[in-house]
Amino acid sequence: MAIVGAGPAGLLLGQLLHRQGIEAVIVEARSRDYVEARIRAGVLEQGTIEVLREAGVGERMDREGLPHGGIYINYEGMRHHIPMSDLTGGRAVMIYGQTEVVKDLIAARLKDGAPLLFDCSDVSLGGVTSGEPVVRYTHDGQDRELGCELIAGCDGFHGVCRRAIPEDVLTTWGREYPFAWLGILADVAPSTDELIYAQHERGFALHSMRSPSVSRLYIQVDPTEKIDDWSDERIWSELHVRLASEGWELTEGPVIEKSITPMRSFVASPMRYGRLLLAGDAAHIVPPTGAKGLNLAVADVTVLAEALTEHFRHVSDAALDEYSDRCTMRVWRAQHFSWWMTTMLHQDPGADEYGRELQRSQLRYTCSSEAAMTSLAENYVGLRLQETAVHHG
Ligand code: APR
Ligand code: PHB
Repeated sequence: MAIVGAGPAGLLLGQLLHRQGIEAVIVEARSRDYVEARIRAGVLEQGTIEVLREAGVGERMDREGLPHGGIYINYEGMRHHIPMSDLTGGRAVMIYGQTEVVKDLIAARLKDGAPLLFDCSDVSLGGVTSGEPVVRYTHDGQDRELGCELIAGCDGFHGVCRRAIPEDVLTTWGREYPFAWLGILADVAPSTDELIYAQHERGFALHSMRSPSVSRLYIQVDPTEKIDDWSDERIWSELHVRLASEGWELTEGPVIEKSITPMRSFVASPMRYGRLLLAGDAAHIVPPTGAKGLNLAVADVTVLAEALTEHFRHVSDAALDEYSDRCTMRVWRAQHFSWWMTTMLHQDPGADEYGRELQRSQLRYTCSSEAAMTSLAENYVGLRLQETAVHHG
């Protein structure tokens, strides 16, 4: 078995398979340092927490992660609490950086002595529709060819795997948003106990965190903005204005990291072509509002690992044949939720007055109706869609 990409999807798939006694080689384009330094979102759904624990990589997460049972929504200078756990029968999320999940998975793999190759260049796929697929790559200056039975394409949005599927086979859907997120990591205790999502006429802002002493904050910016034009002072000043609510203070601190990320929604289907199976960002992207990206990747590879286990144990290929369909329902639910959170909370430069009034009405409804809050809450902590998606129709 070959796995292309050592992001959360590829690494977790490798871990789940290893625990079933199925060996895979993971081929990664970047260095270990690069992969372990890449800063991404940090909210783990209830189901993701459980999968990581079952996979034997939940120990540090349980020790260092911050369980959160609610979020705040801020608009028109007022802060509203959404008590997610109360609304979902006790379900919650864990604040634990994706970077930390990746570090834990790499450590587990190296401890087991399972193959994980960093710094592979010129990665390409061959024979995907034949009985003998291969992954070709260059490693340590040598051209190599990895023959395998199946290939898991876990190489993210910009990877090579999705492109191995012919255009007439693959259907794609997508949307680019007219805004981006400027994110900072700051060496300062969070000024809030739970995440604050803020809608403001100057644009969206989010106060998140990584630990009791490190804050993660974001502001909406124009996608053409350059990070060099954003001094720390300018960023903090926007954060103060956009997150403001009466009687609350935002504490500033040294900025350790800052970057701008564009936002898009994207779905590619089917997620299987011959011997190639796509998982995670290789098959779909969500904008970060609601932090569904990592959770979707985890859901995909959980389904995939089960299907592959049945395949390699010669039980049946039925689950493998159903893989793409089984993932679809969850993918589209997360697409809708992420798009909905994004449109409710961001300032759309192209919106007209009618659009702005709709947005205000949606915010008021979401923060006041228990039914609306419950809908937000159950999506945020994660729906149990895997089971329901199997035997539809
Ligand atoms: N060959 C080998 N590896 C590749 C190639 C390639 N041609 N192209 C990209 N990669 C690697 C990337 O360097 C990266 O480490 O594949 C990995 C893909 O990882 P992610 O982009 O993290 O995607 P995924 O594992 O699906 O995780 C989804 O990560 O991107 C976030 O928002 C996303 O949170 C979500 C989660
Ligand atoms: C983060 O902490 O990076 C984060 C939190 C919530 C989001 C997105 C990102 O919705």
